[in-house]
Amino acid sequence: MKFFVDTAEIDAIAELNDLGMVDGVTTNPSLILKSGRDIVEVTKEICDLVDGPVSAEVVATDAEAMIAEGRKLAKIADNIAVKVPLTWDGLKACNVLSDEGNMVNVTLCFSANQAILAAKAGATFISPFVGRLDDINLDGMELISDIRTIYDNYGFETQILAASIRSVNHVTESALIGADVITAPPEIIKKMADHALTDKGLDAFLKDWKKTGQNIL
Ligand code: E4P
Repeated sequence: MKFFVDTAEIDAIAELNDLGMVDGVTTNPSLILKSGRDIVEVTKEICDLVDGPVSAEVVATDAEAMIAEGRKLAKIADNIAVKVPLTWDGLKACNVLSDEGNMVNVTLCFSANQAILAAKAGATFISPFVGRLDDINLDGMELISDIRTIYDNYGFETQILAASIRSVNHVTESALIGADVITAPPEIIKKMADHALTDKGLDAFLKDWKKTGQNIL
């Protein structure tokens, strides 16, 4: 399973990247706003830091303008994945941009049918938004599972990028279902290391170690 980090914060990406935890990065207009940085500048910096795909999102809504924006974003670096929304125009843009040899991440996917269309349009990644479905009392994980089944039924090569990951359980469930990639905020990835029994066990070991009166160094 690949780990993408869902942020445009350079320091957070660098910290995880140094540990070998980063296979790619996803950004979106809200994350660019949060970073307070210029999109081209910050995206270039991320691409220089990380070897894997870095998603940069178009903001136009008609296919022609999305294609123009996508071509411009793709020039930032070789590892750019152009992110387009799952609209009819977005699918047209996906088709053209992927035919031109670009990686394309089709985002804002909320149904299995949308995921089928993205695969047929040549998407490199499909991004089903798990957390936002859970937010409206639907089952985000069921969507990941449905897309996995459908893509496997027909041998679609589009990678399932589980997005809008809001908890460590979302990561476990995505892994069990067989999502190709998860994209999660840095805090969630770090939280995966936490376990109450680890803390408790370590505490007991350290207390006993003190009683031995020994030093390792
Ligand atoms: C994915 O590419 C999106 O940037 C992201 O996962 C959206 O997450 P959110 O629903 O928590 O904003």
